[in-house]
Amino acid sequence: EKGTYPHYMLKEIDEQPLVIRTILSKYQNEFGELSIDEKIRSSVIGADRIYMIACGTSYHAGLVGKQLIEKYSQIPVEVHVASEFLYNLPLLSKNPLFIFISQSGETADCRGVLVEMKKLGHRTLTITNVPSSTLSREADFTLYTYAGPEIAVASTKAYTAQMAVFALLACDIGKLKGLDNDFNPLKELSLAANAMEVIVNQKEKIENLVWEFLGMTRNAFYIGRGLDYFVCLEGALKLKEISYIQAEGFAGGELKHGTIALIEDRTPVIALVTQQHVSASIRSNAKEVIARGANVLTISMEGINNESDQFTVPEVHEHLTPLVSVVPLQLLAYYATLHRGYDVDKPRNLAKSVTVE
Ligand code: M6R
Repeated sequence: EKGTYPHYMLKEIDEQPLVIRTILSKYQNEFGELSIDEKIRSSVIGADRIYMIACGTSYHAGLVGKQLIEKYSQIPVEVHVASEFLYNLPLLSKNPLFIFISQSGETADCRGVLVEMKKLGHRTLTITNVPSSTLSREADFTLYTYAGPEIAVASTKAYTAQMAVFALLACDIGKLKGLDNDFNPLKELSLAANAMEVIVNQKEKIENLVWEFLGMTRNAFYIGRGLDYFVCLEGALKLKEISYIQAEGFAGGELKHGTIALIEDRTPVIALVTQQHVSASIRSNAKEVIARGANVLTISMEGINNESDQFTVPEVHEHLTPLVSVVPLQLLAYYATLHRGYDVDKPRNLAKSVTVE
């Protein structure tokens, strides 16, 4: 039930801090240690390469998940769009593990890959929000995201939940492998949940930015580098699917290879700046588009922010910034849609579960 909320999407955005805290409690034992099913642990440790298969927002979570798993578990990961995987089959490793990421657990494109990989005898793990969903029943193992029912077509809390589960899985495996990671995911995720809370309490500020930057624009660009780039892809998808503004997420360095030709006077460009090691380069990309007339909205993180940035998110661990920086982008999409008078929860042409290939 959406209770006093005007839309499920807004409720689900607000629920994100709570979802992260729920995940933390579900994956901790009574001694406050990370605890993940033993069979899942051994299937991940036994893999020489992980293939992540997903669509849409879940695919974007996979892009971040890859970075977390490679960094903290030291297992190579490939992320693939489910609908393309079977046409462009990569050369598979000797001991692959297939991870299907799906909020609904019903996505037909993922199931198509699951069925084929099972035929080949490969191990499969589903990360889903829906217990007893098709992908959960058909895979060897399941990890739940515990986000609670997600009703709005635009996925929000499922995305942040998926990334949180990846952070826990990555560190759990790293610890079992005896890797020396100075990253405490329980502590850092709980700080990220607090940061999300600070952002959802600034709705009015974000709504005003929508008036100022998205107005009645027909298109918008999101630019970022490193993890911010992946969040840009997600921010752009969110905006286009519900507000129908044509939006694209770009790696800052790619702009000059073509896309910058599209920048005109007043074109909205949202620049994400949460990664210290690339902050100078992305700020210089922002200057390049400003010089061509763009209206740049900079969303940065405390610690590397400039006074002129329009929105600043609280500081969190550099590998968890996507959980936090996506929240203002979800809210931008929400308010842009509201202002245009479209149906936030049920955009045209889209279904919550895509059960056709
Ligand atoms: O249920 P799934 O996670 O498998 O769904 C995948 C996509 O269809 C889904 O994420 C879609 O992109 C959302 N509408 C995005 O908000």
